[in-house]
Amino acid sequence: GKRVRVHHLTAAKAAGERLTMLTAYDAPTARIFDAAGIDMLLVGDSVGDNMLGHESTIPVTMEELLPAVRAVSRSTQRAMVVADLPFGSYEAGPQQALASAVRMLKEGGAQAVKFEGGTRVAEHVRLITGAGIPVVGHIGFTPQSEHMLGGKRVQGRGDDAAGRLCEDAVALQEAGAVAVVLEMVPAPVAARASEVLQIPTIGIGAGPSCDGQVLVWLDMAGMGDWSPRFAKQFAQIGAQLHQAASDYAAEVRGGVFPTQDHSYAD
Ligand code: KIV
Ligand code: NA
Repeated sequence: GKRVRVHHLTAAKAAGERLTMLTAYDAPTARIFDAAGIDMLLVGDSVGDNMLGHESTIPVTMEELLPAVRAVSRSTQRAMVVADLPFGSYEAGPQQALASAVRMLKEGGAQAVKFEGGTRVAEHVRLITGAGIPVVGHIGFTPQSEHMLGGKRVQGRGDDAAGRLCEDAVALQEAGAVAVVLEMVPAPVAARASEVLQIPTIGIGAGPSCDGQVLVWLDMAGMGDWSPRFAKQFAQIGAQLHQAASDYAAEVRGGVFPTQDHSYAD
């Protein structure tokens, strides 16, 4: 098949080809992004603040995430589908993490899982990888720890923190991770981590030197009500959707829509 698989990730890095990743939470966006050639679709716990009306990712549950994983998996032919493990579904230890990861594949149809943390989750990564499930790491700013980190802040600033970040990245690679997301990390630190690792780094707010990039699709497409500084809006889908809805309402109220063309004959 032509599915993007784990060996393509390291091969892409070795060939100097940048990897593309977007979030997706439902069938229509997954279908569109897959057809557009996005390499990896992340069913992120960012579904919480982007789609479900939560304030953050912290309240998101397996029961909320699994239907989204299923919808994306069913609607994707080429992209690798990566499912986030939500807060509370892996912190208790490697066994809990494995059980959650297994559900994402068996019930969700995902091809890989992602969860937050470096050295502290290395044993989780080792067990899950050993069970045959690819793991994507996630270090730097990790939204599930925002209360411990003191808010949405750049991580890895200064020599000590930069050194720890690189150690975390290496620990994930040694535990078997197939890629590592670097979120809100100074560009030079992300460049250093990308140089040290054989597996690809996937940056978000981590500068241009990562081996790939990821964005929340609503930030990428101008669909959200707010978007972080590191994002770029490649469209204004929110404004277009607003216009479409008001045009529709005006035509219905004015008796312009529907016409004979949209009606059935007797
Ligand atoms: O949940 C998510 O969207 C993520 C990305 C921002 C990496 O974890
Ligand atoms: Na996430």
